Amino acid sequence: MNSSKLRKLTMDELPDWSSWPARMLSIEPFDIMHKTSEAIIREFGVDKWGALLKFFSGKDKFALADVETMEQDPSELIPCFQRELGFYLAMVKQASNQQIDLYRDTLSPHAGAASCLVELGAGYGSKILALSEKAPFDKLPLFAAEYTQSGCDLIELIAQKINKQVQVGQCDFDKLYVNGLEIPEDSIIFTSYSVHYVPSLSKGFVNFISKFKPKVVVHFEPCYELYDSQTLHGLMCKRYMELNGYTKNIASAIEIGCKEIGANFETEHNVFGSNPFLPLSVIKWTPRS
Ligand SMILES: C[S@@+](CC[C@H](N)C(=O)[O-])C[C@H]1O[C@@H](n2cnc3c(N)ncnc32)[C@H](O)[C@@H]1O
Repeated sequence: MNSSKLRKLTMDELPDWSSWPARMLSIEPFDIMHKTSEAIIREFGVDKWGALLKFFSGKDKFALADVETMEQDPSELIPCFQRELGFYLAMVKQASNQQIDLYRDTLSPHAGAASCLVELGAGYGSKILALSEKAPFDKLPLFAAEYTQSGCDLIELIAQKINKQVQVGQCDFDKLYVNGLEIPEDSIIFTSYSVHYVPSLSKGFVNFISKFKPKVVVHFEPCYELYDSQTLHGLMCKRYMELNGYTKNIASAIEIGCKEIGANFETEHNVFGSNPFLPLSVIKWTPRS
């Protein structure tokens, strides 16, 4: 990304581009949300992935980009955050390319000896399918698991239209299961903005994933505990997660889980966000071989 051409934003300019500062300061009324399983099925299963599935089920030909465009206008300008740059404006498409490039750069050093690429909590597959277009992932078998049935169905539909083989199953990070998927050993497993929907992440989460004997596991997730309590931005990110009812213990639950199974645990804090109040951290762990 060419940072000299970026339109940078100060924190004072964020309210021009987002309703969240006014909500977080209680100037605009906002009810705290609770991410119950009913709320998640409503938000993703019905309103988001369900509506997209309904629309594209009747179409003869379409590409992943058509589904993404339907989800959000790619030319819309949005405020973003990058650790090295601070706040800036970008088009939705630029921000999403930047995010995929980050995922590719983080995951690709592990691709050499990996058996396959796996995304858990995959939505309609936008991240794993976008990665599958890029080397070195274009050579790897693909596996995706998702919580909602409409998300699973939409992954299968898109894969069929774009001629990709993807094994699809169902998963739940709360009840800790993956159904309908035989994940091979030595996989690269990743999650992207999907772990923060459980009320509290179980310490058994790492042990549960380690049973698949992956080569490496990478979580691209917003982590409440990794936001800085000494900065205004860090505090706003924490408040954003509280108002939205998101999980607060992702980083510590994974760290404890890694200690329990003797896995190597690394984090990079608050790297990037196409939402300036929900930047992701990269948590990478490798089970002992
Ligand atoms: C914001 S979307 C992210 C989708 C995709 N990973 C991406 O980055 O584009 C969040 C996804 O998490 C899934 N999800 C919610 N609760 C979950 C749970 N308990 N277990 C697994 N996935 C869950 C939702 O169904 C939704 O598809």
